Amino acid sequence: MDTDSNAPSGPLLEVKDLRTHFFTRWGTGKAVDGVSFTLNERESLGLLGESGCGKSMTSLSILRLVPGPAGRIVSGQVLFQGRDLLRISEQEMRRVRGRGIAMILQDPLSTLNPVFSIGGQVAEPLRVHRVVPRSGIRERVSKLLSLVRIPAPESRLNDYPHQFSGGMRQRVVGATAISAGPKVLIADEPTTSLDVTIQAQYLRLLKELQQESNLSIIYITHDLGTLARICDRVAVMYAGKIVEQLTVEALFERPAHPYTEALLQSIPRMDRKVHRFPSIEGSPPLVYDLPPGCAFAPRCPRAMAICRSEAPPETRLDPGHSVACWLHAKDEHET
Ligand SMILES: Nc1ncnc2c1ncn2[C@@H]1O[C@H](COP(=O)(O)OP(=O)(O)O)[C@@H](O)[C@H]1O
Ligand SMILES: [Mg+2]
Repeated sequence: MDTDSNAPSGPLLEVKDLRTHFFTRWGTGKAVDGVSFTLNERESLGLLGESGCGKSMTSLSILRLVPGPAGRIVSGQVLFQGRDLLRISEQEMRRVRGRGIAMILQDPLSTLNPVFSIGGQVAEPLRVHRVVPRSGIRERVSKLLSLVRIPAPESRLNDYPHQFSGGMRQRVVGATAISAGPKVLIADEPTTSLDVTIQAQYLRLLKELQQESNLSIIYITHDLGTLARICDRVAVMYAGKIVEQLTVEALFERPAHPYTEALLQSIPRMDRKVHRFPSIEGSPPLVYDLPPGCAFAPRCPRAMAICRSEAPPETRLDPGHSVACWLHAKDEHET
């Protein structure tokens, strides 16, 4: 594999102790509560967890798009190519969005505007970031559309979204996201609204784009099946915190956190005669009313007394595998 000699050493993106809270009349919601992870060049990292655990708020914080005024990034660092995005001006941040880090939103089909042509929408980031001269935009848009496998793209530039199928619109959203040549693509549950065949095609496309455009991907999902096809590593989130980080291989072979184990047990398996979907007891705690200690303790089948009173320390099990759980805490943390 070739390496870019100009690339800064260290990870492409490094999130350090990020905290994003919602200040409402019901109290403070710790949507993101001390999240840290790194993303290397050309790597794809999965953010896995049930609905409401803070996946979207983590990615919106990276892009400084947290819905205000209730939502606020209260502390932490987001180092992109060594620069802290939480400390730069809004003007500089606009250059980072799309050009440096692009995002496919949770409901991508609604991101296309019905009253603008497909070609116009894919061209928008090219215009905003002046990636190519005005005269070259049409050609670049056609290239992008053929990259996402839209047949005869030249002839479809003036079409409107309603003339495209759901799967094709999804691919157009993908083309728009990468049109300004970002280094990082954040895909927030991009396949949730798609049927299974189109899901598989879309995942293949993401992989191809990653190879052709040297993208690093943050892939957000609650679905282990799609995650396994895209990601190299996984960060498992629960109630605003990353509770375990490991490779996809380790995820299936040696998950350490009881929450990760529970997620694995809830996937339907072809080799079981009876398809059952055992779900985890209880539901995720509202980030407004977190218990003391480990947030998963009330639902955890292996909870001990300490789990209900003290937050578990992060323990490194292997290089690249860490877990925040009292079951795995090393001696120095034991009381
Ligand atoms: N607009 C909002 N106002 C108040 N609280 C919010 C808002 N959006 C999200 N939250 C809180 O942040 C938590 C995390 O949300 P989110 O990141 O969207 O979860 P996920 O993407 O993992 O489903 C939610 O559980 C919710 O309590
Ligand atoms: Mg979400």
